[in-house]
Amino acid sequence: MTARKIFVTTALPYANGNFHIGHIMEYIQADTWVRAQRMQGNAVNFVGADDAHGAPIMIAAEKAGKTPQQFVADIAAGRKQYLDGFHIAFDNWSNTDSPENHELSQQIYLDLKAAGFIETRTIEQFFDPEKNMFLPDRFIKGECPRCHAKDQYGDNCEVCSSVYAPTDLINPYSALSGAKPVLKTSEHFFFKLSDPRAVEFLTEWTQNGQHVQPEVAAKIKEWFGTRTNPDGTTSEGLDDWDISRDAPYFGIEIPDAPGKYFYVWLDAPVGYLASLKNLLNKRGEDYDAYMADPQLEQYHFIGKDIITFHTLFWPAMLKFSGRKTPTKICVHGFMTVNNGEKMSKSRGTGLDPLKYLALGMNPEWLRYYLGAKLNGKNEDIDFNPEDFMARVNSDLIGKYVNIASRAAGFIFKRFGGKLGEVSADGQALLAQLREQAGPIVAAYEARDTARAVRETMLLCDRVNSYVDANKPWELAKQEGMEARLQDVCTTCIEAFRILTIYLKPILPQVAAEVARFLIVPPEQFAEVAQPLGAGHQIGQYQHLMQRVTQEQLDALFEPPAPVVEKAIPGGEEIAPTITIDDFAKVDLRIAKIVKCEAVEGSTKLLRLTLDVGEGQTRNVFSGIASMYKPEDLQGKLTVMVANLAPRKMKFGLSEGMVLAASHADEKAHPGIFVLEPFPGAQPGMRIH
Ligand code: MSP
Ligand code: ZN
Repeated sequence: MTARKIFVTTALPYANGNFHIGHIMEYIQADTWVRAQRMQGNAVNFVGADDAHGAPIMIAAEKAGKTPQQFVADIAAGRKQYLDGFHIAFDNWSNTDSPENHELSQQIYLDLKAAGFIETRTIEQFFDPEKNMFLPDRFIKGECPRCHAKDQYGDNCEVCSSVYAPTDLINPYSALSGAKPVLKTSEHFFFKLSDPRAVEFLTEWTQNGQHVQPEVAAKIKEWFGTRTNPDGTTSEGLDDWDISRDAPYFGIEIPDAPGKYFYVWLDAPVGYLASLKNLLNKRGEDYDAYMADPQLEQYHFIGKDIITFHTLFWPAMLKFSGRKTPTKICVHGFMTVNNGEKMSKSRGTGLDPLKYLALGMNPEWLRYYLGAKLNGKNEDIDFNPEDFMARVNSDLIGKYVNIASRAAGFIFKRFGGKLGEVSADGQALLAQLREQAGPIVAAYEARDTARAVRETMLLCDRVNSYVDANKPWELAKQEGMEARLQDVCTTCIEAFRILTIYLKPILPQVAAEVARFLIVPPEQFAEVAQPLGAGHQIGQYQHLMQRVTQEQLDALFEPPAPVVEKAIPGGEEIAPTITIDDFAKVDLRIAKIVKCEAVEGSTKLLRLTLDVGEGQTRNVFSGIASMYKPEDLQGKLTVMVANLAPRKMKFGLSEGMVLAASHADEKAHPGIFVLEPFPGAQPGMRIH
């Protein structure tokens, strides 16, 4: 059989927050599948990336006083600890603002345009006159037109769950500025999914049983026929898809359309290709040649909330821009924690992946638990602490890990670590184990890790029955039973080697430790057929895995300690002690505010022109607009950090920082107060 060539991705997480357990679940599922493919000798490239674009990220960056690029980079810097921590081995991690993605997205768009799939249309949309931007539905709030609940979002009501257009809201307001939005027209670009070619292609592609799970195909089918719109009218087929957004927007410019950007969901999946291209470029391989191979398979692992984008928009984008369409979209359900309670950070009910690791909990417990639950279907799964403990302690450790510990000691102490011959009963047992290789590999292929784990645990049961029947601990005490003891223990070790291969996609770390102990690296599924053989020398057994404790689980779900109001000056502890030399590193100077202006597009910042006696002025942005008007400050003296590295901000370069006092909890204790020296101080004087 020739090796398959497979390109695998997970959904690209929005770069406005850290990973939560749902992300980790998706990555563990995909990582397990990839490892199982590699163990069949298939060549896989497994890539991910941050989804960098869109209005929410742009707005979050502005709030944080960062450029969107810096904001995304800061989130990206936090990814590695999660991925390494849970043994998730992406070959590459990029982001959708990369040069590769800009180029590919624009090219795909141009190809779609050339094929006649792009159309422009003028639409009317809410515009925030204060922020000077069109408002995404999520940023418009108002009174629900049906039930009159206040403060509902522009697309649906969370009280009566009715769906409507933002223009239906009563007394709408901008969630960004509070301003009353005005209707404004704008030209938008549309991807013509209503084109009969698209409808025909997508009907076939989604319903031919090859690319999506049956339960997913059934769901998609509902989107094709006659639909009733919120306003009571009906539509046939598919709607065209609005793929443009107006500036200001953090995204990719639409070619030949100044001020127009691709809607984030247009360039996000292109990010799959861009991350792959970035990887191949780094390796000096040819992306075009790689993609041109008709044998190449393309797999996307995603959650059930983003099916439309991956089974309609994305295949259509690829198809009609003349590119390879995905082989499979692998949809998983949502993970919940503690009986289906929707995960919520604020309520402390979630399972924080970093807390899990920080408590010293073994990442492979979670990999095993998820592996035992995921069956390849679009079904939700729940993390239940008792179930977790039972599966890890009773099954994984009690049934599998213990096989090694029951046999290894005797081989090491009594036979110098050398394996012996296996007699007929042992051979029969091992044959039963080897027979399951096919079904187990097939279960991995179908992402039915639950079945792979179940089959493997049944085999563990057989091995344990064999141990119980042969009682090596008694053989060890009997005269003349040396050979039988070595035979039984050799059988166990060989069985353990096979079982380890079966679990290796899920437990890469354990497998690596077993490889060290057996002094043979189990790499491929095919190796189950190649016994270690008599005379093979094994190493000393070291316990492979601790049990989960109740204390760990309690600590994991213990809600974060409530913040006790202590008498802390200004709401924060005094910083750790520094030396006078540390202080001397900070060059504080008297500065004259020669000019002070509002910053267009920002309600937070003022632009200060400062003179510190250098013969030229400096430009500094300061987040003090809520407290001071430009004329309050102009002409005054203040204190600045003069040797701070300049920082590139959205509105320009900031060449220093003005000192100002505020409470640590600015929401509860608003106010920020600029420092002013006593009379007599001159610009440029240093503060010692
Ligand atoms: N940025 C988009 C995806 C773009 S793909 C070209 C996005 N990001 S996300 O961060 O919201 O979600 C990333 C993935 O995590 C999605 O596949 C989503 O379904 C998955 N999950 C989010 N919450 C989840 C659970 N509670 N459980 C399992 N997966 C979940 O959507
Ligand atoms: Zn309502």
